Amino acid sequence: MAERAPHPDTPELRARWGGFAWTPGNTEKAREIVARYPEGRQRSAVMPLLDLAQRQVGAETQTQGWLPLPVMEYVAAQLDMPIIRVLEVATFYTMYNIAPVGRFHVQICGTTPCMLRGSDDIMTACKTRGMKKGHTTPDGMWTLTEVECMGNCASAPMVQINDDNYEDLTPARLDAVLDALAKGESPKGGTQDPTRHTVEPVGGPTTLREMVDANHDYRGAWA
Ligand code: FES
Repeated sequence: MAERAPHPDTPELRARWGGFAWTPGNTEKAREIVARYPEGRQRSAVMPLLDLAQRQVGAETQTQGWLPLPVMEYVAAQLDMPIIRVLEVATFYTMYNIAPVGRFHVQICGTTPCMLRGSDDIMTACKTRGMKKGHTTPDGMWTLTEVECMGNCASAPMVQINDDNYEDLTPARLDAVLDALAKGESPKGGTQDPTRHTVEPVGGPTTLREMVDANHDYRGAWA
C-alpha cells in the first residue's frame, strides 16, 4: 500500500511551504468551489480544495504534487476547520499524497482481478526500470505505489499514472507508456490493447453488433 505517514513537520518544511497561498487563478477556482456548497456547509469543499492545493504544489515542484502540512493548514483556515479534520481526509484517501512524490506517480493495482491478469509482471517491469515500491527514483521521475482496485477490472491489469489510467497492460505495453511519458509525450489512456476500443469483449462485441457502427434501433427486433 501507499506510504500513508504524513511527511514530518520540520523547520525546513515550514520554511518552504509556510507561505503557501493560492495563485490568482486558483484563488478564483477555490472561490467557485466553496460557492458550490450551501451556506454553513462550506467545509464540504475540503476534498476539491485539497485536490486543487495538491495540483498547485505539483505545478510548483514539477511533480504530481503532494500536501505539505502548512498547505493543509492553509486549506483548514480557509474553511474554518480544525487541521485534524483536514488531516483525517488527506490521510484516508490515497488520491492525496501526504509525502513528496516524483514527476509521475505510478500506482499499480494489485487487487485480485489485476493480480490474476498479471499485475505481478507489471510490478516486476517497474522494478526492472529501477522503481521501488513506496519510493521515488533518484532522478525524481517515478514514484511507485501499489493500490487497491481502481475500478478498471474489466481491462485488468492496469496502472494509474497521475490523472490517467492505462489498461490491458503487458510489460511491453507498460514500457511503451513509460517511455512515452519520459520523452514528454502524452500516451493514449485507457486500454493499451490495439484490438480493443474500450472494455467491449476481447475479440469484438458478441451482442448488439450493429451498435458498433451506428446508433442502431433494435426496437423492431423485440416486437
Ligand atoms: Fe485492478 Fe479492479 S482489481 S482495477
